[in-house]
Amino acid sequence: MIQVQNVSKHYGDLVAVDNISFQLEKGDVLGFLGPNGAGKTTTMRIITGYMPPTNGNVYIADIDVFEDPQSAKSHIGYLPENPPLYEDMVVKDYLDFVADIKQVPVNTKKERIHYVMEKCGITDVGGRIIGHLSKGYRQRIGIAQALVNDPSVLVLDEPTNGLDPMQIIEIRDLIHGLSNDRTVILSTHILPEVTMICSKVIIINKGKVALEESLERLSKKADDTQSILLKTKHQGDDVKQKILFLSNVDDIGVGPFNELIVHPKKGADIREELSEMVLRNKWGLLEMRPVTHNLEEVFLRVISSEGN
Ligand SMILES: Nc1ncnc2c1ncn2[C@@H]1O[C@H](COP(=O)(O)OP(=O)(O)OP(=O)(O)O)[C@@H](O)[C@H]1O
Ligand SMILES: [Mg+2]
Repeated sequence: MIQVQNVSKHYGDLVAVDNISFQLEKGDVLGFLGPNGAGKTTTMRIITGYMPPTNGNVYIADIDVFEDPQSAKSHIGYLPENPPLYEDMVVKDYLDFVADIKQVPVNTKKERIHYVMEKCGITDVGGRIIGHLSKGYRQRIGIAQALVNDPSVLVLDEPTNGLDPMQIIEIRDLIHGLSNDRTVILSTHILPEVTMICSKVIIINKGKVALEESLERLSKKADDTQSILLKTKHQGDDVKQKILFLSNVDDIGVGPFNELIVHPKKGADIREELSEMVLRNKWGLLEMRPVTHNLEEVFLRVISSEGN
């Protein structure tokens, strides 16, 4: 559905996007992650045909975005980082105007606008002037305009940015519900959001793909090697020394409350021998539990290993 082939973007000497390639099918929801300035927005602008790349190609439904932008764009709903709204327009009229530009058939237009307004929680402000609305409401209108033509490809640049907690949940549900028969790319800095709604994640750093993985594989990988948080009454150096002596222990760190974080060797399960050791030495077991390698840890690891 989406093919990004060796895409690069140079701004003068700055390489904002550096030879990025990936491919998405119908039903994929891609979480596009990366630190500020990594190149997420630039890549999304290129995918949606709003900016040409310096090198590379993008195909949407097998259409070359730069050779035939008009037909490619008819498949795309795009929420830019700063939605370009006409501040003087009334919300309903604006959506009507966008629907016309996107050639929504006249016989379904009214119904469609009603549907997206309802879904995005803007029915109550339909008669108000956009410029008078709060930031969160403008974001909702930005999402509504992206959805109005019922596109098969959705590109959403930080869709939940600025929304209140209630609306964040609704928009996440909406994106999740849309994903069955569509392809979605969304960027976000809220990592749990990716775990909740995405099927795939790409982390970019300094314009390069630093990690591309399915969420399924990512969580499986995390389960393979599980670190253990251990808190004992006795906290001497000897505890650390003895644990380090276990053949399946790779390393020991210290948690925020002075508890030990025991890292096993790859694939090893150390729970049994660790608990036995604690009991044998009468260290006084207070707490012992697995620490999950969440996306946040993966993100920080990937970003820092790229030399940041
Ligand atoms: N029009 C432009 N002219 C020059 N440099 C630009 C332009 N747009 C973006 N850049 C640079 O390209 C790099 C990537 O920017 P981009 O906006 O794609 O990052 P991002 O990953 O979306 O960051 P954020 O998380 O802050 O939104 C940055 O170094 C940025 O300063
Ligand atoms: Mg951005």
